[in-house]
Amino acid sequence: MESEQGSWTSALSHLECARCGTRYDADSPQNLCTCGTPLLVRYDLDSVADRVSTSDIAARPPDLWRYRELLPVRERKNVVTLGEGMTPILPLRTYGARIGVPGLLAKDEGMLPTGSFKARGAAVGISRAHELGIERITMPTNGNAGAAWATYAARAGMASLVVMPDEAPPITRMECAMAGARLYIVDGLIGDAGKLAGQAVADGWFNTSTLKEPYRIEGKKTMGMEIVEQLGWRMPDVIVYPTGGGVGLIGIRKALDEMLTLGWLTGKVPRLVAVQASGVAPIVRAYEAGAETAEPWENAKTVAFGINVASALGDFLILRAVRDTDGIAIAVDDEDTLAAQAACAAAEGVLMCPEGAATLAAVERLRGSGWLSGDEEVVVLNTGSDLKYPHAAAMAEPPLLAKDAVLPS
Ligand SMILES: Cc1ncc(COP(=O)(O)O)c(C=O)c1O
Repeated sequence: MESEQGSWTSALSHLECARCGTRYDADSPQNLCTCGTPLLVRYDLDSVADRVSTSDIAARPPDLWRYRELLPVRERKNVVTLGEGMTPILPLRTYGARIGVPGLLAKDEGMLPTGSFKARGAAVGISRAHELGIERITMPTNGNAGAAWATYAARAGMASLVVMPDEAPPITRMECAMAGARLYIVDGLIGDAGKLAGQAVADGWFNTSTLKEPYRIEGKKTMGMEIVEQLGWRMPDVIVYPTGGGVGLIGIRKALDEMLTLGWLTGKVPRLVAVQASGVAPIVRAYEAGAETAEPWENAKTVAFGINVASALGDFLILRAVRDTDGIAIAVDDEDTLAAQAACAAAEGVLMCPEGAATLAAVERLRGSGWLSGDEEVVVLNTGSDLKYPHAAAMAEPPLLAKDAVLPS
């Protein structure tokens, strides 16, 4: 077994266009392929298979850097960390039994630094940007990504410029401001924020928008690696993901492929489920139409703000991940999401963010339609802490008692 102080070797090889396959040098800053498509990170997997085993990984500290061979940071000294990774997988026995899926598990990403799974993409993306000498980053965001990237940028000593819609969760504004980001609020949606962030890019800020730099996927793919490791190096039957830009779903698929190639896993890949809100469901519409890409959604609206994405650059990758695994894309109503959120909190003590709760509403629908038989092991991703969303529907308003009041019996 390697010593913990010992090797730190990323097997990073090159970048590759997800559509046309053009190769790019990974050791200089890159954004999209010249054909406008996201770049995927490729590793020398043969060298990993020779060098590291699953038991070596099990002996490492419980953070996402335990998968360092399959992450893009070449030198340990460039890692920018706040202790991210290895979030718990919680059985939801009571709630699961109630909706007819007793094998329901939730991977709870609300425990991560900045309170959402965006910490994974930010930790890896910022570390690699730091390694490549980038000093200023910018992005449009629905809130959580901006908060995470601004926070990790602060930790790296980097400047950040974040643009977010005025409806994004106010706590994420506070996080950006506290982390010293240049923060702008736009009267519009994330696409409008993107246009403004584009001005900063033209001014020399490095573009870290969703899928416009290659390393965020690498951070998010560690959700897939952890699920597999935590289940004892085996795959669940189904993974259910709240899908906006789809980075997590694309990343989980990529992680499974890499681990299968390495021989760390065998068996059937889980059916991947992309969950959207019925008020903004471009991927579901494309899935149902049999299309390979998605048309932008008009008048996008949902309480699950993180998945309020009218148009996703990685649409074809999301649709491919769903179809190749015999999965499905499904839209749920906000009403059902909020009902599932409250029911799960009361039954399990697990307070999911609205995006996470949308996956619960989807599982219930899929069980109702027979798509789930009820015998499967189903992992839902709770992508953030509900504490970041003090929205009215979930706010109990208990009566205010006088100091000498007598409690009703
Ligand atoms: C809490 C939460 N869940 C899910 C998502 C969607 O993530 P992805 O871009 O990976 O689809 C977001 C994105 O902002 C989010 O903040």
